[in-house]
Amino acid sequence: MSPFVLTRTLPEDATGAALRADVREGLTAVPKTLPPKWFYDARGSALFDEITRLPEYYPTRAEREILLDRSAGIAAASGARTLVELGSGSSDKTRHLLAALAGPLSYVPVDVSESALTGAARTLLAERPELEIHALVADFTAGIELPVTPGPRLVAFLGGTIGNLLPDERARFLASVRALLAPGDTFLLGTDLVKDPAVLVRAYDDAAGVTADFNKNVLRVLARELDADADPDDFDHVALWDPDREWIEMRLRARSALTVKFPELGIAVPFDAGEEVRTEVSAKFRREGVRDELAAAGLRLTHWWTDRAGRFALSLSAPD
Ligand code: SAH
Ligand code: TRP
Repeated sequence: MSPFVLTRTLPEDATGAALRADVREGLTAVPKTLPPKWFYDARGSALFDEITRLPEYYPTRAEREILLDRSAGIAAASGARTLVELGSGSSDKTRHLLAALAGPLSYVPVDVSESALTGAARTLLAERPELEIHALVADFTAGIELPVTPGPRLVAFLGGTIGNLLPDERARFLASVRALLAPGDTFLLGTDLVKDPAVLVRAYDDAAGVTADFNKNVLRVLARELDADADPDDFDHVALWDPDREWIEMRLRARSALTVKFPELGIAVPFDAGEEVRTEVSAKFRREGVRDELAAAGLRLTHWWTDRAGRFALSLSAPD
């Protein structure tokens, strides 16, 4: 069996420092915001996995359908010997792509969630013991350094996670992806598509309340990591469609006037009754928009595949 290597580029302490800085900046801003990467502690990653199995949450099933139908085409077009995956989570859908890529193959999953990376590696190695896995605990928005593995590389960013970045963050992110690619490398991007707002809102506000629990998990992270007296029961989960920006916006709304104290930071954050914190956006895309954003980063769209119902797209692009 190949050795499983895990590299942490986030020192244990850097996470705490970054969280403190984000809380200080985001919760004292008007309106209040928090960056989404803080959802994904071990419990957050497990809750997200539960979301992917909800009847209302179609993106995972739609993207899996495309991967099942098109993996052979993606493998042929990329000729990849190394698959790098940003925000890999459970790597569950990735198995379809790995199965289509010829060995010997290196897999470089990159995620902020160490528990997700080790869990995924265990499952993958049980199925495919010859896979070379070099996992990276890293923030993909901070510029990552890849291990030396055979080319060509295929860099994948699945799940529609790109929609969780704001437009200016997206432009910076795509430019950093472009910088990772050598001639002959390719980029596989999953984007959820604009559709009936009722379908979109249901996907982010499910009947069983799992998404609400996931959204409120960020409050548990604040309570545990910063000793804040943030109580999930004091907030409601809100999911709204913004028709101008074409994104779903997730918020936490204070049920009554309250104050959240952060003793370590020496700050107290007051909320009016009904006041909201924006915790996440999930942008939805159209083909021309994806093509133009890729082009602005120096990437040329070569393939565009959707599921049969046209809900979700996978695109392949290459350096200009
Ligand atoms: N690709 C998987 C998981 C999507 S959920 C799928 O399609 O189902 C988003 C994943 O990205 C989570 O595993 C989360 O831990 C990770 N993530 C979120 N922000 C990140 C960041 N800034 N850097 C690295 N990983 C991040
Ligand atoms: N990348 C996922 C998406 O935008 C993340 C996600 C799904 C999410 N449901 C959520 C993030 C609920 C926050 C809250 O679809």
